[in-house]
Amino acid sequence: MDNLPKTWDDWIENFKTWQDNVGYDREWMGDFDLSIQFDWERAGDVIEFGDYAGRTKWERSLQVPQQSMRDALVSMITVQGDTEFASVEQQRHLLATAPTDYDRYAAARIMAEEQRHGWQMAYLLMTYFGQQGRREAQKLLERNAQDGDRLLGAFNRPMPHWLDFFCYTMFVDRDGKFQLGMLSTSAFKPLAASMGPMLKEESFHLGTGSNGLRRIIKAGVIPLDMLQRYINKWVSTAHDLFGVDGSSSAHWAYVWGIKGRWDERKKLEAGHEVSKETLNEEARQHYHEEIVAEVRKLCGYLPEGAADLYVPHENFHREIGHFKRQRYTVEGTLFEGSDDEWTTYIAEHLPTAQDEEDLKELFKQQWVAEKPMTARQIASGIGASV
Ligand SMILES: [Fe+2]
Ligand SMILES: [Fe+2]
Repeated sequence: MDNLPKTWDDWIENFKTWQDNVGYDREWMGDFDLSIQFDWERAGDVIEFGDYAGRTKWERSLQVPQQSMRDALVSMITVQGDTEFASVEQQRHLLATAPTDYDRYAAARIMAEEQRHGWQMAYLLMTYFGQQGRREAQKLLERNAQDGDRLLGAFNRPMPHWLDFFCYTMFVDRDGKFQLGMLSTSAFKPLAASMGPMLKEESFHLGTGSNGLRRIIKAGVIPLDMLQRYINKWVSTAHDLFGVDGSSSAHWAYVWGIKGRWDERKKLEAGHEVSKETLNEEARQHYHEEIVAEVRKLCGYLPEGAADLYVPHENFHREIGHFKRQRYTVEGTLFEGSDDEWTTYIAEHLPTAQDEEDLKELFKQQWVAEKPMTARQIASGIGASV
């Protein structure tokens, strides 16, 4: 790595090269403020859980008691940052085919915000973790989703079109919300303090997803069984993002106070006992319940007589964990049929080559209902010059 950045300014220079390579024109950011943001108040001063609970939160990496804990922090910040830049690499090409002006604005804004999130993580690495951090901050700009070497599977998956994009923002960005929430109570204060502003931005991404899916239903062009297949694809991918079952790294991250449970503060207040062996499962369950509620809301917009949309079971189509590559149905039961029957089952429940072909025609119609832009959104200039 001959271009290892020494200062934050060096890193920014390399970031601009990354932007050029991805092809995200800086003008598309409009008046967006690409800056480092902390909410120190929300981060709190006292370690909230784990073996060090009650002590002062760490503000510098040298205050972190052990090297293994620093390594875990570096690894978590790196994974988070990696997803941020990866998503821009996955989405960038969609700007040219935005179905409406509003959607172009929304996608350009989401990509601007993901870049800021990536910056924020790179800043933590550059500022607090010495040579090791600088190396990781640089690698955030060198792995690439198109080459398939981003750290997590979902962030290497191609996102060929806007139906994928709406499902992705609905389901994969929502995984992000949970990850950020779990880091928001971290004992490492600069990490905890980074989460408030990021979570605020993330809520726009989720809104883009749920609103987009609602507008798809409203337009009535995409067949609902096809929509369901795309939901199944991205939900199972998002389930994977919560990591392996019985994770020891999640266990240690909790013991060390680095990463909490979802709603850690509420759980502490309510005296919920922690199950350190099943932290990933617990987070995945919370996520699952939330998307079930979200999809139920979507069903309220379906035409009369249409079958309800649903969320596939956690066991379906998994690439990680106990149910990895096993034949489970969308209801979560073991599939009993033959190989051929399984192939048919999968073609009914996950997108097919024919779906991709059919979508090309469907996209020529008004397949997602219009959404007017607000005066503020127009004035922002975000995405305007695409
Ligand atoms: Fe993000
Ligand atoms: Fe996001």
